[in-house]
Amino acid sequence: MIQKTFLMVKPDGVQRSIIGEVISRFEKKGFQLVGAKLMHISQELAETHYGEHKEKPFFGELVKFITSGPVFAMVWEGENVISVSRQMVGKTNPQEALPGTIRGDYGLIVDKNIIHGSDSPESAEREISLFFESEELTFYKKDA
Ligand code: CMP
Repeated sequence: MIQKTFLMVKPDGVQRSIIGEVISRFEKKGFQLVGAKLMHISQELAETHYGEHKEKPFFGELVKFITSGPVFAMVWEGENVISVSRQMVGKTNPQEALPGTIRGDYGLIVDKNIIHGSDSPESAEREISLFFESEELTFYKKDA
């Protein structure tokens, strides 16, 4: 099934200059980039995006971190992109993420885990619309 998902290089990934590496991995896998921007997340957007973690003890730090510097927000399209990209991202805790995954290869601590990826079709839809206006997404056919 062709799907879209939201992926975002977090401030630590931008600082570490791995935006290109992240794009390259998803391109090489065969997914199609249909929207992207480097941006600062506002306090309000951070609190909305991470709303499900509002009661967690790390919520304040999470919001502070995600608004601390630019992020690279992306929308990717392709066959089962939501679950396949989650596998490529790896487990939330980079110490448990397998080598070969983005977090496994580049991350070390859970609150700075390099990248965010939507975890379900519902969150993909919600997160894409939080970060992108529909005019910001492109539609083009990619030759095989
Ligand atoms: P993400 O997939 O973006 O969604 C929620 C984020 O909370 C998660 O990645 C982690 O970076 C962050 N986080 C910070 N501290 C913790 C923690 N103790 N347990 C789980 N997630 C945490």
